[in-house]
Amino acid sequence: MILSLETSCDEVSAALVDSDFLVKKNIIFSSAAKANETGGVVPELAAREAANMIEEVLEVTLSGMDWNDIKAVAVTTEPGLMGSLLTGIESAKTISWIQKKPLLSVHHIFGHICANLLCSQKNLYRGLPKFPALVLTVSGGHNDIYCWKSPLEYKRIGHTLDDAAGECFDKCARMLGLGYPGGPHLSKCAVNGSAERFSFPRPLKHSGDFNFSFSGLKTALLYKLQDLGGEENIDDQTRADLAAGIESAIVEVLLHKLMKAQEKYSAKELHITGGVSANRLLRKHFEEQSIEKNLAYRIPEKMEYCTDNGAMIGAAAQLIGQYGDLD
Ligand code: KG4
Ligand code: ZN
Repeated sequence: MILSLETSCDEVSAALVDSDFLVKKNIIFSSAAKANETGGVVPELAAREAANMIEEVLEVTLSGMDWNDIKAVAVTTEPGLMGSLLTGIESAKTISWIQKKPLLSVHHIFGHICANLLCSQKNLYRGLPKFPALVLTVSGGHNDIYCWKSPLEYKRIGHTLDDAAGECFDKCARMLGLGYPGGPHLSKCAVNGSAERFSFPRPLKHSGDFNFSFSGLKTALLYKLQDLGGEENIDDQTRADLAAGIESAIVEVLLHKLMKAQEKYSAKELHITGGVSANRLLRKHFEEQSIEKNLAYRIPEKMEYCTDNGAMIGAAAQLIGQYGDLD
């Protein structure tokens, strides 16, 4: 098993993952409730929460475990908020030194890519994908398409030119007077709405490449709200219709690009991962379109593997340990 730590943003998480990517423990503490009060992540507060919570998260993760069963310690080293990252990095270094276990450094995005290897029970073992696989990693900080060519080889083929889809969800939710993180709140509100009532742009949909742009969507929402006399003057149905319009525009562009990329790269498998892969509409259309193309597809088995978590870092570390050139 590998003990893995993830503290790159406002989650403090530690996990134990075995060589079949079976998750033995995945303890996640989120300071999202604090971020709800402040309307977003405040790096200084997130760093303080990480420093406060890491000991408890590690204690719960390691309770009942035998150090002889843990062969390495892994930690997210980039990218992320420096104050939060340092808590994980220094903790992992200390454990590795005291317990004399090798220390593995994991890139946060490679962790998200590997979230689709994780399984919560032995009989749900998923193994490696058929390569090349295309992975849409979509969260608050990232919005990319990767071509995953072999266990440790992944190349970015598309990215956002401005906001990530999760960031767009968060900002639009705030403009609609909904809570943080905005994605789940906006999506819940959209359930009762009609996506047809308001028309929103589909940014870069036909640009011919695999890049994205979502900042224009929030501006479009701002103008619609101004025309309606401001957020405080709209009724619940209008709020739901606006939310549905935004959600449907984001999902349509994300999947259009992924499916176009599949054709260009002759991908044998499609994956979605990252916080936004928890989105119900994205999952539904992703499944439908993958089945239509007769392609294997994966969505993280559990919601907790979508957003930031230690287990995905453990899965990535297992690949690095099994296929990497470690000295
Ligand atoms: O991967 P993650 O935990 O952190 C980053 O690396 O950014 O993703 C968090 C993002 C937030 O922007 C949040 O609004 C979004 O994922 N998100 C969702 C949903 N659940 C989380 N977006 C849309 N629908 C959801 N159900
Ligand atoms: Zn993330």
